[in-house]
Amino acid sequence: MGIEKRKDDHIYIASSEISQVGSAWFEEVVLIHNALPEMDISDVELSTRFLGASVKAPFGIGAMTGGTELAGKINAELAKAAEEFGIPIYVGSQRVALVKREVRWTFEVVKQNAPSVPKVANLGAPQLAELSEKELEAWVVEAVDMIDAYAIAVHLNAAQEVVQPEGEPNFRGVLEKLKIVKKAAGKPLIVKETGTGISKEVAARLSGIADAIDIGGFGGTSFVAIEGARAGESSLQRRLAETFRLWGIPTAASICEVRSAYAGYIIASGGIRSGLDGAKALAMGAHFFTMSQPLLKAALEGRLRGEIEAVIAELRTAMFLTGARTVRDLSLVPRVYGPRLRNWIEQRRLSC
Ligand SMILES: Cc1cc2nc3c(=O)[nH]c(=O)nc-3n(C[C@H](O)[C@H](O)[C@H](O)COP(=O)(O)O)c2cc1C
Repeated sequence: MGIEKRKDDHIYIASSEISQVGSAWFEEVVLIHNALPEMDISDVELSTRFLGASVKAPFGIGAMTGGTELAGKINAELAKAAEEFGIPIYVGSQRVALVKREVRWTFEVVKQNAPSVPKVANLGAPQLAELSEKELEAWVVEAVDMIDAYAIAVHLNAAQEVVQPEGEPNFRGVLEKLKIVKKAAGKPLIVKETGTGISKEVAARLSGIADAIDIGGFGGTSFVAIEGARAGESSLQRRLAETFRLWGIPTAASICEVRSAYAGYIIASGGIRSGLDGAKALAMGAHFFTMSQPLLKAALEGRLRGEIEAVIAELRTAMFLTGARTVRDLSLVPRVYGPRLRNWIEQRRLSC
């Protein structure tokens, strides 16, 4: 009962404005307009590769949910849209289905409704810390099999674990355990944050272990805020949530951090709210981007297809107006950074 109530709480609180905190700093990034794009807008080619797999656009549906009746319905909706648009889809943490077989269907609907697109399995760092090597291997194999996954993501959510009333803030030995996950899965390993971003120091430590880093930067959905809203009014967790409300690396800054220290595949996420934000992330060096909360909200409100179409139209427009025919061309687009981001890049000695 406890874990299921938590999952539904996350869905309801995440879909309200309480969950959205701060700025991902995309307003600090200006792509330079190209008045002579020398193409028809229909020449813009959105197809690209996601960790080697062909996909129809450089964006996908981020990791969110599973484990309850409502989550199962949402996953089915998200999966149908992913299949229709030919884009990848992550699932939320599969721990719940590994300990309770009767909720496996809430994840299996993703492989049933999205048979042809890349699907990403999901486990959390606290499970890596708590499980023995053997148990972890078994969980990884089962999680991949459950959704016929193309890749597996491990989420790092230290800030959430501290503030969550039933949290497990134990990250002992996680880096070593990531190697076990990668080997047991036999699939690309994505290491992701969930809203507080990844620094260049962490990115360097993930080099050679993670096939991709998913930024999960600050400035969109905040699990500090979500767990703070769930915590009792005068509880210590509520106090911590208020104190650490603005904790984290804004997504635009985190992209610069990661690209300065990591040569692998970079997935931008966290507070990406339009195809234009996504185009900026790609121009800054990301290879792909995902959105979570806006797609959850759209699914709950029955307007998911319209939202994905709008993101694609915004991305296509940004590419046309910068003269970028392909996703790869976006990385050559000239850009100007605002003072906060410039200052960050200088102080942190980043190349971006
Ligand atoms: C309702 C909800 C549940 C989430 N659950 C997970 C999860 O189980 N595993 C995970 O890796 N990330 C999870 N996330 C985090 C997202 O993958 C993403 O990192 C974060 O929401 C930031 O992106 P956004 O600002 O576009 O929402 C969840 C997000 C939402 C909105």
